[in-house]
Amino acid sequence: MSEEPGRQLGVSGGAANTWALLLAAGTGERLGLDRPKAFAELHGRPLLAESLERLDLCPLVDAIVVAAPAGWEEPVILLSEELAASKVVSCVTGGASRAESVRAALAEVDDAALVVLVHDAARPLVDDAVVERVLGPLGEGFDGAVPALPVPDTVKRVGAGGIVLETVARDDLVGAQTPQAFLATALRRAFEREHAGATDCASLVERSGGRVAVVEGDPTLLKVTTPSDLALVETLLRSA
Ligand code: CTP
Ligand code: MG
Repeated sequence: MSEEPGRQLGVSGGAANTWALLLAAGTGERLGLDRPKAFAELHGRPLLAESLERLDLCPLVDAIVVAAPAGWEEPVILLSEELAASKVVSCVTGGASRAESVRAALAEVDDAALVVLVHDAARPLVDDAVVERVLGPLGEGFDGAVPALPVPDTVKRVGAGGIVLETVARDDLVGAQTPQAFLATALRRAFEREHAGATDCASLVERSGGRVAVVEGDPTLLKVTTPSDLALVETLLRSA
């Protein structure tokens, strides 16, 4: 583990309004490699490089904090330097859960920040358009916004022994993606409460009374979970 988890990379975030937390601290158990998912090879470089470069080049993002897997802080810092990702302010050691990694990264965000974007490095193909869409509702009275897509499959609730208990009406169901955007105050308030087990930040903001909007997601923003997801993203990158 790094001796200086909040090691500064030389950029001052003082004037930054919009901070992005890039979550890369997972182990990638379901991907099953000998290294964390963030360092799986995608299009000839570490998977993390894709989202890091895209957020660094996004004009709507002012500063970036990366949550790295324990023991992988130096490789993350080196990668940021290789990419000349000038908005990377800090690299923190992630926690045992996604929510703990968010908490660690959020602690690095400047008090003056207005907006915090939270993005999974496991979704490499983030683009400016989806960042713009999630920022929209924050100017319209919402505390947060998530990109989402309709659920294409019929959804069933299943009980012990694999017995179908119920087929769930899916007309009002969506699958949430990242990047998710929040007013910094709302996200900080949400993390003052119990957050263990939360799989996304929006659920915590909702639970603490925040209003969260859904905006159009993007099918190419798929999350790399298994080897076949990695192959699919690789194909999308090659054909881009
Ligand atoms: N994540 C994190 N810290 C954790 C767990 C997850 O920063 N303790 C990040 C991952 O790096 C990923 C995102 O949260 O970008 C979504 O998590 P997931 O897809 O589940 O990644 P892993 O936890 O790495 O994969 P697995 O569950 O298969 O181990
Ligand atoms: Mg996980």
